[in-house]
Amino acid sequence: MSGRRFLQVPGPTNVPDRVLRAMDRPVIDHRGTELPPLTAEIVERMRGVFGTKSAEVVLFPGSGTAGWEASISNTLSPGDRVLAFNLGMFSHGYADCARALGMDVEEIDVEWGRSVPIEALAEALAADSERTIRAVQVVHNDTSTGVTTPIADVRAALDRADHPALLLVDAVSSVASIDFQLDRWGVDVAVTGAQKGLMLPPGMTILGLSDRAVAAGKSSRSPRFFLDWRPAIDMIHNGYFPYTPATLLLYGLREALRMLDEEGLPNVFARHARLAAAVRAAVAEWELALVCRDPANYSSTLTAVCVPDDLDADDVLRVADEHFQLSLGAGLGQLKGRAFRIGHLGWLNELMVLATICGTEMALVELGLPIRLGSGVGACEQQLVESALVAG
Ligand SMILES: Cc1ncc(COP(=O)(O)O)c(C=O)c1O
Repeated sequence: MSGRRFLQVPGPTNVPDRVLRAMDRPVIDHRGTELPPLTAEIVERMRGVFGTKSAEVVLFPGSGTAGWEASISNTLSPGDRVLAFNLGMFSHGYADCARALGMDVEEIDVEWGRSVPIEALAEALAADSERTIRAVQVVHNDTSTGVTTPIADVRAALDRADHPALLLVDAVSSVASIDFQLDRWGVDVAVTGAQKGLMLPPGMTILGLSDRAVAAGKSSRSPRFFLDWRPAIDMIHNGYFPYTPATLLLYGLREALRMLDEEGLPNVFARHARLAAAVRAAVAEWELALVCRDPANYSSTLTAVCVPDDLDADDVLRVADEHFQLSLGAGLGQLKGRAFRIGHLGWLNELMVLATICGTEMALVELGLPIRLGSGVGACEQQLVESALVAG
């Protein structure tokens, strides 16, 4: 097949040419003099995307899942009580991770498509009169459902209950695409990965740690070695790592962070919100339902779209891939076959979104859906033009 392939899964995302070029270089000595300035710049710029002035930043080769494990094993001890939510594949997975590490997890079931139920959270915190819940785990943006939970509301519930639980947040598909404020929201651990808003190939997890999280890391009794963040914190202060870091990815990360800062983070967030609205305009025109139930929780980074009962959503992926070289995201977990996901995060612009909508629309029409060709594309264009005019 000639021409370029469209990667529109909600991560891994497209890697900018600038980032590819920054990584296209000889491998360096990770104990040499080139590393400390690189590390220092990354840590400082990562603080910006985490929304923190002084939180510790640690990086491990791995992926978001390794970040989950680090966030739990460093702060908690086996048997500790954890409050979590099953509202999508990733919130459920984060809870499973805590369970596998020996935590006593209370997982509140939520209809997939909804955000963290603040009432239920408040009730669970109020019922915990002995203050035995050690941590609340939340996924900021569940990539299986396209639902964003306002972390400020979670923090407010903890504050209202005057509850000391640590707040552990999976920000894998939000950081660098949706506003994230570690300091202001009192987040203790924020976990992200390389391959989403940070526009890198997969292979790294990055965590932001509050002072409370660092303190918890000193007393946790969970077994850990590679993911122990204590030696990592110490060595990163001097620009090095207690293991061989993914040096070329670090060059890529520095370049990606420079690009984000050049665009300006508020502009990055506004771009994501605007492109997301244009995708949703197309879906509305197709008269397909979104998995996300409440407009207040619409995700700026992906849209999960329900298909009619007589259609297998995996066929949409297959036709889009085979006929148009377009990779869309599959429905995950209980949404398998019932929904597909359009990723719209990272290095992305209007015409990339339009091509994605165009390919998706053609696949849906080929599969027999009663959609007029061009209708979703037109709605998408309309939304983009109108929002461009508003933005001036
Ligand atoms: C919200 C969220 N959390 C965690 C993960 C797991 O990360 P990884 O696949 O990088 O291990 C993902 C992956 O897509 C995700 O979207």
